[in-house]
Amino acid sequence: MLTLQEMDALLRESLSEHRYAHSLGVTETAVKLAKAHGGDTEKCRIAGLLHDCAKGMSTSDMLRAIYRNGIVLYPGEEDFEQLLHAPAGAAVAREIYGVDDEEILSAIRSHTVGGRNMSLTDKIIYVADFIEPGRKSFTGLEDARDLALKDINAAQELCAHLTNEYCHSRGQKVFSI
Ligand SMILES: [Fe+2]
Ligand SMILES: [Fe+2]
Repeated sequence: MLTLQEMDALLRESLSEHRYAHSLGVTETAVKLAKAHGGDTEKCRIAGLLHDCAKGMSTSDMLRAIYRNGIVLYPGEEDFEQLLHAPAGAAVAREIYGVDDEEILSAIRSHTVGGRNMSLTDKIIYVADFIEPGRKSFTGLEDARDLALKDINAAQELCAHLTNEYCHSRGQKVFSI
């Protein structure tokens, strides 16, 4: 596995400035949430940093990385291009960043669609992605931020609910597993 410093340098090269800043915001928030809920701060730090590491890739490169690494997509997931960077991110984290910790890879993989039996690390990354300090204000964001420090399960459910509402309000199809 690359060192944190190497990961940071590689990530900075592969993402836009905006997406890189978002990744640092998620990292910082994930560590804070891990401390608040007795989670693994080092796993949350790496998962937070790398969660969007595939965001700069083309769809075909993402799909190739997913299949090459044996990551199984949910039925119909490949039709939602904006979701593919999560399974592709897990593939790239393993292949390029050398991460072999399944808990970290799972949190990256599930940060868009969630999952049925999410671990604490999965939930922390899902919520941190939603509430990081760089997010522009929207209805429900402050509630999610308050809840995140108190009840991570309820916060994850709220974030999933708000995401669905947002997609509905924009007439977008919602993917659910
Ligand atoms: Fe993402
Ligand atoms: Fe993100």
